Amino acid sequence: MDLDLSVLNNAEFVALRLRSMYKQHGYVQYKMSKFEEYDLYAKNLDFLTSGSVITFTDTTGKLMALKPDVTLSIVRNTRDIPGEVNKVFYNENVYRPARGADRFKEIVQLGVECLGDIDEKNVFETVLLAGKSLDIISEKNVLTISHMGVIGSLLDELRLSREDRKKALRLISEKNTHELRGLCTGEGGSTDKNEKVERCIRLLSLSGSPRDVIKKLHEENCDPAAVEELEKLTKVLEEAGAAERVCMDFSAVNDMKYYNGIVFRGYIAGVPQRILSGGQYDRLMMKMGKKSRAVGFAVYTDLLERKFDEAGENEKTAGLIAGESETAGTLSNEVIRIALPKGRLGEKVYAMFEEAGFECRSITEENRKLLFENKEKGICFFWAKPADVNIYVERGAADIGVAGKDILLEYEPDVYELLDLKTGRCIMAEAAKTDYKDEPGRTKRVATKFENIARSYYASLGRDIDIIHLNGSIELAPILDLSDVIVDIVETGTTLRENNLAVVEKIADISARLIANKTSYEFKKDKIRAIEDGMRKVVAARTANKG
Ligand code: PRP
Repeated sequence: MDLDLSVLNNAEFVALRLRSMYKQHGYVQYKMSKFEEYDLYAKNLDFLTSGSVITFTDTTGKLMALKPDVTLSIVRNTRDIPGEVNKVFYNENVYRPARGADRFKEIVQLGVECLGDIDEKNVFETVLLAGKSLDIISEKNVLTISHMGVIGSLLDELRLSREDRKKALRLISEKNTHELRGLCTGEGGSTDKNEKVERCIRLLSLSGSPRDVIKKLHEENCDPAAVEELEKLTKVLEEAGAAERVCMDFSAVNDMKYYNGIVFRGYIAGVPQRILSGGQYDRLMMKMGKKSRAVGFAVYTDLLERKFDEAGENEKTAGLIAGESETAGTLSNEVIRIALPKGRLGEKVYAMFEEAGFECRSITEENRKLLFENKEKGICFFWAKPADVNIYVERGAADIGVAGKDILLEYEPDVYELLDLKTGRCIMAEAAKTDYKDEPGRTKRVATKFENIARSYYASLGRDIDIIHLNGSIELAPILDLSDVIVDIVETGTTLRENNLAVVEKIADISARLIANKTSYEFKKDKIRAIEDGMRKVVAARTANKG
């Protein structure tokens, strides 16, 4: 009987093709049970994408977990035998909280691990296999490559504290150079240190063809051993004809506690998040008492369940766009979609786009259209609720957008934060009645609409709190004794003053930020960078005028 492959959905079909390719390359399928002892995860919680694990007690009273990850189990079962290399692939269900939700989800994980007495060749072979995996999924793919050694040595030069190093890594992964600069220079940093900081930021923001990036790393005499490894890898990729779709980019960052050496990410057009992620993780091996080394990657095939649109023209927007002509029909996928926050801030920010040369006349027209395109400039604006901009951008409905830092801190979307637009400035603060006296022995009642910001702020102080979630007019809460304090935005301070309230503590500086979807950044890099550069100039000119 012929096998009818049409019964498979897109994700299953891709998984089948990948598994068969891994088998052809000599990888053996690793099968495992659905359960593991919880202890394995408890010791490595931050290796997991979430610290939440489903646990239960088995018949012998042992605490067990429904496995949230496969790599840790494979590492645990690997034996250190000199000269031996284990090449395995897996296709297993794992159980994790869904992003942005507090429910657990069963997701399919497909991956490859190469463990044991491995050398450089094994690492390069794994990177090549990641590239081939992307080719199977879509021709429109990009593999970004980075090196934890390069990043580590640059961070060493900056002599950051352990905590700041962690923050710096997060900022690097967000391409957030404005806050990285602030973190590294601190207040009153010497000029000498600033030069050092500028050099590190320059190198950490490199993103381009492997040869160009390597040239710059050489010129600046950056970590010779790591750069040599990147150079050898580039040669291997070139010989295999795979270098064209590779981008060297140091925002591909993994946790330094586990990963060392080469790390990489895979993106395909039409899927807004990364579809592949991997790297060399000798440090995890060491942490789990192994002498040998390892490299591997995972492919998130469940992102392919919905058919992705890699073709080009997007028919869905036909006739819905206000443009410069009646033929402003469909929106080409080459157009940069820009989400602006509705309201006063959005208008200010639109004026900046205009000043940067990215204007769109139709945006001022009186009609009920929601999308506004300037075909010639290849841009399309739309207005969204300020708290929704990050959702449009993270999920790729917009390529870039402008969101307040308050929203970014609250929702932590997986996006790049390219630029501080230095407008819409205000602070996030704890405020209370002017005669408020804190009683450290009592649980503090905190009213806010920024629950996550408040939770992490008080957690950092080790303070026990009771959160009261309100949707607006937060200032009423302490006045009516609904809460002791509020955590909210303070712009001019008028609302506080007129109600006998005052700032107790500043939590964060807030302003509008230019954000970008990570996949869009890979596939529309030139255009997004042109807009970023234009906006950067506008910000600089405005700052200079004020100064
Ligand atoms: C924000 C914030 C404060 C006010 C602060 O409210 O929540 O209430 O602005 O501004 P000020 O320091 O200049 O007085 P918003 O207008 O967004 O409405 P909300 O009360 O519904 O949150």
